[in-house]
Amino acid sequence: MNKAEKERLARVGAKFNVKKYIAEEIEAIRQQVGDKKVLLAMSGGVDSSVCAVLLHKAIGKQLTCVFVDHGCMRLNEAKEVKNIFKGKFGINLICVSAEKRFLEKVAGVTEPEQKRKIIGGEFVRVFEEEAKKLGKIEFLGQGTIYPDIAESGVGGHKAVKAHHNVGGLPKDMGFEGLVEPVKYLYKDEVRAVGKALGIPTNMVMRQPFPGPGLAVRCLGELTKEKLDILRKADFIFREEMAKAKLDKKAQQFFAVMTNVKSVGVRNGARTFGYVIAIRAVSTQQFVQAGVVQLPFKFVVDVAGKIATQVKGVNRVVWDITPKPPATIEWE
Ligand code: XMP
Repeated sequence: MNKAEKERLARVGAKFNVKKYIAEEIEAIRQQVGDKKVLLAMSGGVDSSVCAVLLHKAIGKQLTCVFVDHGCMRLNEAKEVKNIFKGKFGINLICVSAEKRFLEKVAGVTEPEQKRKIIGGEFVRVFEEEAKKLGKIEFLGQGTIYPDIAESGVGGHKAVKAHHNVGGLPKDMGFEGLVEPVKYLYKDEVRAVGKALGIPTNMVMRQPFPGPGLAVRCLGELTKEKLDILRKADFIFREEMAKAKLDKKAQQFFAVMTNVKSVGVRNGARTFGYVIAIRAVSTQQFVQAGVVQLPFKFVVDVAGKIATQVKGVNRVVWDITPKPPATIEWE
């Protein structure tokens, strides 16, 4: 048993008990934080959401969350985060609409790694600016989960992509310490805690969404026009997957803006519109992934819906490539 495993056993026990975990963690947070303050970067993803609600239960208004909308979020995502966490839970949440700022930074950039790095770097700057405005905050909350720490330090494999997520904040931001209330939990345990805390099912069951968001699904230069088209196409696909109850069959499913334009016809007139790709994969650990064999009629219907309902799109293709050789995301 390595150090991380021993720590998990000590904290979680041999059998995970949600209620007990929540009660103990709330107590542990109160012990650690006392009357000091905590700042948390929320992404709208499962881990940081559960972390936020747990911290809020423990220390209420001593917690401030910051959600940065970098303009590459899915349709209605920023609104949903605000409604749920500020509205339903009453969490002290600051939503920063920074779409314009991010898009200006990446204007003209087409190289995928460069796009990722610019977005990651800008995210840190926006977060730091917000933190400064708030004055002294002693602790940084983080939605680190057990696989993050269990896998770190294993090393040896070459990073395929420069991953960025909201946990990736610099170490020198001047905080006294970290508060990581879900650090020893596996993903399914984090979801169970979230459910027990009353976070809506669609939020706790969310598929993983990369830190740079739609930026890694919008090929070539990032523009508001392309991102808006992608958001609409992606929303239709995800909604249809849920309606057809196919969403349980895939760990990740989404639309991609290919940046290719092709000729089509609408109402008897020629169109020149974008090609959207759809992708659904099943995977355990995201290191390998298989293509989900969606019913063919379903795929054809979705393609028809996207191509007719989303202005600017006249063709839809289905990505049927496993990982490897393809990665899950297109960039
Ligand atoms: P790939 O595309 O490398 O993705 O097969 C594997 C898994 O990682 C997610 N992913 C990211 N997650 N920040 C994240 O937090 C990122 O920059 C990032 N890039 C990819 C991807 O969605 C998949 O689940």
